Order: sequence, then structure tokens, then C-alpha cells
Amino acid sequence: MSGANKRVWIAGASGTLGKVLVNRFNHTTDYKLLTSDLDVPIDNLSEVNRFCDISHPDVIINCAALTDVKLCEENPEEAYRVNAIGARNLAVAAKRVSARLIYISSDDVFTGKNRTPLNEFDKPEPLSVYGKSKLAGEHFVETLTDKHVIVRSSWLYGHGHRNFVDRVLELAKAGETIVLPDDGYSSPTSSIALADFISYMIDSKSYGVYHASCEGYCTREEYVQEILSIAGISDYKLRVEDEYVRPTFTPLDNMMLHITKEYQMPEWKEALRAYITKECI
Ligand SMILES: NC(=O)c1ccc[n+]([C@@H]2O[C@H](COP(=O)([O-])OP(=O)(O)OC[C@H]3O[C@@H](n4cnc5c(N)ncnc54)[C@H](OP(=O)(O)O)[C@@H]3O)[C@@H](O)[C@H]2O)c1
Repeated sequence: MSGANKRVWIAGASGTLGKVLVNRFNHTTDYKLLTSDLDVPIDNLSEVNRFCDISHPDVIINCAALTDVKLCEENPEEAYRVNAIGARNLAVAAKRVSARLIYISSDDVFTGKNRTPLNEFDKPEPLSVYGKSKLAGEHFVETLTDKHVIVRSSWLYGHGHRNFVDRVLELAKAGETIVLPDDGYSSPTSSIALADFISYMIDSKSYGVYHASCEGYCTREEYVQEILSIAGISDYKLRVEDEYVRPTFTPLDNMMLHITKEYQMPEWKEALRAYITKECI
């Protein structure tokens, strides 16, 4: 089936990544976007099934999640309800209507104890409730529907939603202290770059687990320094705090993309510059 005939459901359409994807599909006639104003609650299987039975998606992109790591630590049942059971429900519905399922996962599925970037063949062993619930979601997807792609990414920022980059710039411009979690090393990833990859994956014939972060990695402090340097801000206040359990070294090695040569993610500094200087839409 060509793109023009494909019906795409974006679960979590109001989030950082969801908004970028909605914007993209709203500006093309290649696909028919099925997202309604009110997101279907993914933790409710009958509502998920009902939506799929009525709208018959060919592709489901699961961007819906409880992404607040601290909130997940404090409310594990809520975290598993959305991130694991929600993922299960979408996998069940995808199988039922024979849709391709793209599940967005996270670098937090790894322990962070390694000292080299983690590829798709490394064993996930999450420490946080958030990471454990996302891995549980992956397992449901893998076991419940064949036509799936699991896309792990990291440190997402993007247009149309309050995000880390915007918050840092706001605080610096207001002369307020930028307080950072001490969450180690990872790869800042533009939601536009990730949306590009997801769009590619919709029509690809590939299946399985893919790492798709922007290339390269840094500490959260280096990330902030790069944001401020691109924005030309040299006078700022910064404090690093160790607040809750998080992985410490979780840069993703996009090994599947390197091996297959099917797609190239941009360098994180390049994508960040494009975002801050508005070189991208
Ligand atoms: N943010 C990151 O740094 C990061 C890094 C790696 C991977 N990821 C993954 O990438 C995906 C997208 O992340 P994001 O940053 O775009 O997340 P986000 O901005 O927090 O958005 C999450 C979306 O999920 C929706 N949602 C939450 N509970 C729901 C439920 N029960 N039913 C339906 N929708 C629900 C939210 O709607 P409401 O706002 O209405 O609750 C929101 O639209 C997630 O799977 C996340 O785990 C994120």
C-alpha cells in the first residue's frame, strides 16, 4: 500500500514528539491522520479497541507515555498502567486490525553502568520505575504483535511543547538558576530528527528494535552549555542536583542503522543548532 492510502493513528498526539508528528502529517496529503482532539486513553483496552474498530489504522505510532521520571518513581502503578498496560493495549489492537505498530521507547531501559554506548544487542536492565515500565511495554509489543518496530531514543526536545531546551533558555534569559538533574551521559535528540526517522519507518519493510538518537553524546551540563553557547548567552547560573534514581551512562549506539545503512541520524550539536536558530520548521 502506498503512503497516500495509509491511515495513521498517533497515540500521545499532544506530547513533544506527538505534536511534531501531527504537524508533519497535517502538512502532507501522503497519509490520513486519525488522531482526534481528545486522545484515546491507551490504558483502557475497550476504548483502544473501539477506536481501532471504527477507524482501522494501517499504522499506530505509540508516543503516549508517562515520561516524568520522578512521578513514575512516586506512582509506580500509574507508570505501569500507562507505559506497560497502555503499550499492551495498543499491541493487542494493532494485531486485531493488522496495523504496523511503532512503539517509542527510551535509553532508560539500560542500567547506565557501561562505559560505551549501548546498541540494540545489549541487555536492557533498567533501574528506574520509568525504565522498567518502558521495558515492560517493549516486551508486550514484542510478544503480542509481529508487525512492530521498537524505536529507542533519548533526551527529546521539540517544537510546540515546553521542553528542556526552551526551559534552559527561559531561565537563563530571566537570570534565574538553571537546576539540573545529575543524570549522567546521553544523546540530546531533536523530535524533528526522530519524527523524520519515524516517517521513514512507516513505509520501511524493517521490523524489530532500532536505536534512533542523534549521533554523539554529552553530560546534561555540557548539553546546557551548548544550548547557551548557540544562543550566545555567556552569563548564567547553573546548579547540578542528584534527585532520584536514573541511569548514568546511556548514550545509544544506533548500530542497526549503521549496519543496515538504511538511515543516518544527524549529530546532536547540528540538530540542536538547527532547533535554536529555527533553521528547521
Ligand atoms: N522526553 C524524552 O526525553 C524521551 C526520551 C526517550 C524516549 N521518550 C519516549 O518518547 C515518547 C514520546 O515522549 P514525549 O517526550 O513526547 O512525551 P510527553 O511530551 O510527555 O507526551 C506524552 C503524551 O502521552 C499522553 N498520555 C499520557 N498518558 C496517556 C494515556 N493514559 N492515554 C493516552 N495518552 C496519554 C500525554 O497526554 P496528556 O498530556 O494529555 O497527559 C502526552 O500527549 C514516549 O514513549 C517516551 O517514553 C521520551
